[in-house]
Amino acid sequence: TLRGPVLGLESSCDETAAAVLAADGRILAEGVLSQEREHAAFGGVVPEIAARAHLAALPGLAERVLARAGIGFADLGAVAATSGPGLIGGLIVGACFGKGVAIAHGLPFVAVNHLEAHALTARLPGLLERGAPSFPYLLLLVSGGHCQCVAVEGLGRYRRLGTTLDDAVGEAFDKAAKLMGLPWPGGPHLERLASQGDPGAVPLPRPLLGRPGCDFSFSGLKTAVARAVAQGAASHADIAAGFQAAVAAVLADRARNALAMLPEATALVVAGGVAANQAVRAALSGVAGMAGVPMLAPPLRLCTDNAVMVAWAGIERLRAGLSDGLDHAPRPRWPL
Ligand code: KG4
Ligand code: ZN
Repeated sequence: TLRGPVLGLESSCDETAAAVLAADGRILAEGVLSQEREHAAFGGVVPEIAARAHLAALPGLAERVLARAGIGFADLGAVAATSGPGLIGGLIVGACFGKGVAIAHGLPFVAVNHLEAHALTARLPGLLERGAPSFPYLLLLVSGGHCQCVAVEGLGRYRRLGTTLDDAVGEAFDKAAKLMGLPWPGGPHLERLASQGDPGAVPLPRPLLGRPGCDFSFSGLKTAVARAVAQGAASHADIAAGFQAAVAAVLADRARNALAMLPEATALVVAGGVAANQAVRAALSGVAGMAGVPMLAPPLRLCTDNAVMVAWAGIERLRAGLSDGLDHAPRPRWPL
């Protein structure tokens, strides 16, 4: 049993994050440092820069978050660190720091799968007004690095129903935005531009729409955007609006099929940075409504990469009697 709060650590991509949760899942303190400015000049995340930035930032952030929670390392009951999938340099930084704290204070260590953490976030006590969804539910993870439909059937019981055949959806947003000269990461900029355009002005493909299953593909759409931009006939606002409408339609179509593949689903849970997009949210909530289940999206700060979800996944695993040895090696690839 847990004898104190849990420290969660996240460093798998370009956010350095730490959080402290009470053993019952209450959030005591949390912090996220984005590396957006370090990577913006390169138009994407540079792994070596990311690892060095995590190393520089994580120990201090962890100390500040603990101080805000009003406790010290010695008061902790466990440490949970994202140990994959992700960029190996950052994973090593977070996992080694977590293990160091665990050794120094004799604490259990949990090596958390980042995807599992996203999958379980919706179960954080008190997070959602209508209460935590019960198993099974459908997770649609739509971020810059991931794009998948997952049947969440229980703790440690995940079935990937579909995934992207090429780019992740956030990556597609970022690439389309870049083609239109918008800064990285382009998703939010593209959404703003799209609000001034006509989604019907530029016909763009809707890859895999109407096909069976719930895989995704975005590279053809990206190529069509490149062509429309190069032709120069349509305004960037119209192209952005057309792109966003195509993505929303595809995500809705795929989510509809995924819900049909999991008829017992109690909810459609959406996570990842692209869940911030209003057109995407509206399309998905329509699909959920048609299937007779609620669409649940954690608040945005917990949809994107954060350490609260890592600490919570740690708590869920510890409650189930699971923890990991200090010889657990971080895994850049670690499917659910
Ligand atoms: O989950 P996230 O913060 O980080 C990971 O990729 O793990 O997701 C970031 C992605 C980026 O590709 C970003 O452009 C996209 O989410 N994004 C959006 C919006 N806000 C963030 N895409 C479309 N519309 C948005 N409003
Ligand atoms: Zn993530």
